[in-house]
Amino acid sequence: MPAVTRDAKNIPEHVAIIMDGNGRWAKKRGLPRAAGHREGAKSLREVLKASREMGVKYLTVYAFSTENWGRPKEEIDFLMKLLSLTIDREVAELVKNGVRLRFLGRLDRFSDELRKKMKQAMDKTANGAGNTLNIMVNYGGRAEIVDAVNELIAERGKNGADEITEQDIQARLYTRDIPDPDLLIRTASEMRISNFLLWQVAYSEIYVTDVCWPDFRGEQFREAIAAYQQRERRYGKL
Ligand code: IPE
Ligand code: IPE
Ligand code: MG
Repeated sequence: MPAVTRDAKNIPEHVAIIMDGNGRWAKKRGLPRAAGHREGAKSLREVLKASREMGVKYLTVYAFSTENWGRPKEEIDFLMKLLSLTIDREVAELVKNGVRLRFLGRLDRFSDELRKKMKQAMDKTANGAGNTLNIMVNYGGRAEIVDAVNELIAERGKNGADEITEQDIQARLYTRDIPDPDLLIRTASEMRISNFLLWQVAYSEIYVTDVCWPDFRGEQFREAIAAYQQRERRYGKL
């Protein structure tokens, strides 16, 4: 018997996740932070599987923020290595399962080698007709909005400044081709956005759990979806 009753009708189309608490998970166990990140990669695999099974079309996860460059070099190096290793390990399986994988963020900050690997992974999975996994790397919500505005300026030329609409910005976000998240999950207790999807979460339902990301697996994901299904979304109306 599943622990959580499932409502097959009201499944969110797009779920975004702030995958937090890898370091705390490791610390609790007397392990190096790297062990938490490694275990966290397994969680992503499990959560992607659960989201596919439930029919969630878009999964967008925060893997590395524009602020995370402020961490010790040793940790950054490990995260880059893990990213590269995870691509090597998982892409064939993603292709098999029809998952379209995208890395979104300011990719130019990564090494040529990693960038090439990300691009190859995106190319190989581009025709995935199942669900889409967006992995946000060197991502900042403010940077994304700035990039969108600069794209607009470049298109229009500095003098052709017609009034800008919300639609103009939306159409130039990294996530321009998908709907806004219905549900935003944050693991490891923190009740903040940490510069994630600032524009897109305007009306997302927020779910915060004490569970650290390495312990957040299919069961916890289904629990979050069940909580979402109890919410009433009003969009400012009555
Ligand atoms: C999330 O876990 C992973 C990244 C931000 C890369 P943390 O590394 O932030 O773990 P805590 O928050 O220190 O426990
Ligand atoms: C947000 O977590 C970034 C990612 C999960 C990649 P952080 O651990 O960096 O956020 P803060 O520092 O707690 O706000
Ligand atoms: Mg953290």
